[in-house]
Amino acid sequence: MSDSATTGGESLEHELETLLSVERFDPPEPFKEQALLDDPEVYERARRDPQGWWAEQAAALDWSREWDTVLDDANPPFYKWFTGGKLNASYNCVDRHVEAGIGDRVAYHWRGEEGEERDVTYADLHRDVQRFANALKDLGVAPGDIVGIYLPMIPEVVVSMLACARIGAVHNVVFGGFSAESVRERMEFSEAKVLITVDGARRKGRTAPIKATVDDVMGDLATLETIVVVRSTGIDAPMTDGRDHFYDEICDAADPVCPPEPFDAEHPLFILYTSGSTAKPKGILHTTGGYLTGVAATHRHVFDLKPESDVYWCAADVGWITGHSYIVYGPLLNGATSVMWEGAPDFPHQGIWWELVERYKATILYAAPTAIRTFMKWGAELPGKYDLSSLRLLGSVGEPINPKAWLWYRRVIGGDRCPIVDTWWQTETGAIMITPLPGIVATKPGSATLPFPGIFAEVVDESTGEPIDEGQGLLVLTQPWPSMLRTLYKEDDRFVETYFARFGERTYLVGDAARKDKDGYFWIIGRIDDVVNVSGHRLSTAEVESAIVAHERVAEAAVIGQSDEDTGQAIAAFVTLRGEIEGTDVVVEEIRAVVAERIGRFARPKRIIWADDLPKTRSGKIMRRLLRDIAEGRALGDVTTLRDPGVMGALEQKIKEGQAQEN
Ligand code: PRX
Repeated sequence: MSDSATTGGESLEHELETLLSVERFDPPEPFKEQALLDDPEVYERARRDPQGWWAEQAAALDWSREWDTVLDDANPPFYKWFTGGKLNASYNCVDRHVEAGIGDRVAYHWRGEEGEERDVTYADLHRDVQRFANALKDLGVAPGDIVGIYLPMIPEVVVSMLACARIGAVHNVVFGGFSAESVRERMEFSEAKVLITVDGARRKGRTAPIKATVDDVMGDLATLETIVVVRSTGIDAPMTDGRDHFYDEICDAADPVCPPEPFDAEHPLFILYTSGSTAKPKGILHTTGGYLTGVAATHRHVFDLKPESDVYWCAADVGWITGHSYIVYGPLLNGATSVMWEGAPDFPHQGIWWELVERYKATILYAAPTAIRTFMKWGAELPGKYDLSSLRLLGSVGEPINPKAWLWYRRVIGGDRCPIVDTWWQTETGAIMITPLPGIVATKPGSATLPFPGIFAEVVDESTGEPIDEGQGLLVLTQPWPSMLRTLYKEDDRFVETYFARFGERTYLVGDAARKDKDGYFWIIGRIDDVVNVSGHRLSTAEVESAIVAHERVAEAAVIGQSDEDTGQAIAAFVTLRGEIEGTDVVVEEIRAVVAERIGRFARPKRIIWADDLPKTRSGKIMRRLLRDIAEGRALGDVTTLRDPGVMGALEQKIKEGQAQEN
């Protein structure tokens, strides 16, 4: 490293340290002057008349039939929004922009791993979505049928989602990082009729055979009638006659015109499986009118979107809710131009994100704190080599952002001129819930600030459920909102039990702890259940445990989330082996491989700690709280309820030895 770089690094470090004492950052004046929303009165208006506010937001969509009732709350917590209204999601995302004469506008600047570029316009989407929608119809797909989608970040994933929406089929996207086993499980739970996948997927210069892997596990699924294969990488894909079809061939054979059919506002739009407290993933169900209203309104106002001039980049994967709401539906509803990047942040080089910002003159960047912390580690010199002056707004999502990373993002990427919107929400909420409005709200590093207009959040006392004005407690949402989940697919009871049992059917239990400060700002602390957040990827400890015990040598496993500098949380697994077997490095790798196969590589435990025994209550329940305490080096809580309190001393010793080895 040259002298000047060293000096630069040190002075940046010093500057960030100094900035840590700044409590709040007002919206920069030049930003405020051009902001879509700059009057705080909007909060008061929405608070006084939330239904009026949401109806106003819904009116920005194109409805084939206007709704009769904004909110039907006759049967809580099964709320309905915009009942009587009819609309088509794909028409709203695509056709109406073409009809308005902006079909030539780029919807996605797609960039492939090898540097390939494809500009997909709204007119392109209009053409491709219609053909594929007809092809799906030709395959017998009808409204309400479930269609699985297991695709990498290629434009066909958007076309597939919109084609489903066009004909009223319900998409069930599985993130490409999940294993084929996970795909199978999600297809089975949802009784999917069709699965859309790909020949192979590229990752960091290698091509993984996807179709062949899917075939290995999918064979005996009775409900799955058809597999559609997108030819993306050109590698050989085994095809089963009568069941499998190539995407390009069925599109070519299909009628080019598919009129959009209006569906009820409450017609299901998609299911997205996410992790809960148990090993069985939850099928979050979103419907059409309310979901689209929520994502369009938040995308527009939180990102201050000017569709004519902005180039927006959400660097998530379509397979997560962030991708559904803020790569696909939100941006398309608003006629935005987006960047879509196929690859990883470090391939072909660690500056690729900044190369893409410069290349496409991105004005808005929406990313996860994990990515930001990684870039921090790689150093400010890398982004410094590119022209990032096009950026005017930065967003953060998926996990708490530590103030230092927030300040680095603001300084190094945003050049001190871009407001940061730290957006808190969940798969269940469909759209952003707590966030600054960038032209109005002063930000504080590490705080998601205030509920979006029309959203009612509180921090409540854990035992009484009473709101806390200032202090820590459980985060709840106290009034329904249009983009809320409607139920857990085929599990209505679990839906009520998970979210509405604790404080009643009108109070949605988020599952996060939070703190409210003297200004009413919200600070999200983290999950209160057995959910871990690794690099913004949501996992259940039970899910990982059941994968680990599938290894033939494992007798028992307990998984916890451990704080991690890079990934927010990392998975640590306490594992008891069968009989006299010794825990060797080989067994560690085997266990990690089982987890990769059953769930996905991102779920592999970072640390495995061999335990002769696990801390259990007299009734045999593993006390994960104690494991978390020793893993974090905290003083142990109450151990008197343990069957054998001596277990803890042995484990503490193991952790100390392990740490000594790692150092
Ligand atoms: O714990 C919160 C955390 O991510 C959880 C939701 O995960 P998921 O459904 O996968 O959706 C992630 C993308 C919206 C939440 O319960 N979380 C999300 N955003 C934030 C956050 N924690 C702190 N700050 C955020 N901005």
